[in-house]
Amino acid sequence: MSPPSPAPVPWLLLLLLIAAAAVASAQTTPMALDVNEIPQRYDEAQLWRIYNISEAMQRQVPVSQVLEQKFGGNIWKENSKFLDISIAKEQLKAARSFLNAQRLDAQVLSGNVQALIDEEHMDGINATRADPGQRTKKATRSSMHWKDYHDLETIYAFMREIRSKFPNIVRLYTIGQSAEGRDLKVLRISENPREYKKIWIDGGIHAREWISPATVTFILYQLMSNWENQPAHIRGLTWYIMPVMNPDGYEYTRTTNRLWRKNRSPTRRSSCVGVDLNRNFDIGWSGYGSSTNPCSDTYRGSAPASEAETKVVTEFLAKRKYNLEAYLTYHSYGQMIVYPWAYKAVKVRDASVLQRVGNTAVQRIAQKTGSTYEAAVTHEVLGIAGGGSDDWSRAALGVKYVYTVELRDRGAYGFVLPPKYIKDTALEGWTVAETVAQAIG
Ligand code: ARG
Ligand code: ZN
Repeated sequence: MSPPSPAPVPWLLLLLLIAAAAVASAQTTPMALDVNEIPQRYDEAQLWRIYNISEAMQRQVPVSQVLEQKFGGNIWKENSKFLDISIAKEQLKAARSFLNAQRLDAQVLSGNVQALIDEEHMDGINATRADPGQRTKKATRSSMHWKDYHDLETIYAFMREIRSKFPNIVRLYTIGQSAEGRDLKVLRISENPREYKKIWIDGGIHAREWISPATVTFILYQLMSNWENQPAHIRGLTWYIMPVMNPDGYEYTRTTNRLWRKNRSPTRRSSCVGVDLNRNFDIGWSGYGSSTNPCSDTYRGSAPASEAETKVVTEFLAKRKYNLEAYLTYHSYGQMIVYPWAYKAVKVRDASVLQRVGNTAVQRIAQKTGSTYEAAVTHEVLGIAGGGSDDWSRAALGVKYVYTVELRDRGAYGFVLPPKYIKDTALEGWTVAETVAQAIG
């Protein structure tokens, strides 16, 4: 017996229903899916450390470039001694054979980058949940603390809170907007803005270096929680503090890609997004150490200060260069305190002073937390790179005490430093600021 053939009417009805459902769902989901918004995972991606890449360079093979462009590698750190780069699971084999062909070996710093990211996340959740005093304490209105990393809004709320607690000495500026329209905020702390010498501190130029905004907000807290009792060399300065220079990138690392470095501005004639803000400043911009390729993590942008973030900060600082004695910018990782120049293989004129103050900070850090930092000239330890904010502040504004501080760690976690290390690392950052303030006198 053959089965009865289905009636034609229900089939038509079903078809109509499917069509209606398709129309309905098309209205609730975005018409075009933006691949940039799909969260990036790093399951079984490995973090490698590769030594002796400069030897391979002499054989005309730009190892880091090849690994970045051909094998989709994500460069974490490149200096005169080694390259740290993470490689997606799918590319591990091919990248290994490439290295073998170059007679290079990779030391595996981490066998699963996603596990590092998950550990960082869980560490923060546990640290903030397990504290019984957290809920009952009503001392601070903002939800700021240094047991975990925070989103931009929490950082900005903390800045507003500082301003409202010290209305007479604190001013909060919105100095402009980022590429995606977020506010760029700077606090000024001063008892005498007309006369006191100035120190500028920024963080978060590079999105994924989360310890940087955490440290700069901690410096702010250290200053203000005890302002009345601060020594004269601290109270007698005008402090400019910008915890997040790259808010778009920072938020992007929180929602979508933990390892994003650049800002988020679109590029003409390329689908790749973002400029490395620390290659975008107007000093040695077209020289070594940056890329003209919009897809590279060290893309310098279409022109010096082409980026809103760079432009706004340089204009703000240029107007205030009188009495500007120090420029401190916090990055990670590597545990180094470096000073100009970076764009050329020359030391700044008063390098001996900068080295001495750097050494003092290194010693104090060792006493306080036991961490080993190194003070050095940038080009000697990190290689030559133009377009940096540090060199710019020296060359364009004549700032004397210019330091880039590379916070923890030395590669075990890299950018993905678990929150339990925030407090000590931030204390190390504060120690540098204190030491420089004292040197200004
Ligand atoms: N890791 C930092 C960067 O690559 C180091 C900055 C040192 N200064 C410089 N102008 N390159 O941006
Ligand atoms: Zn950086």
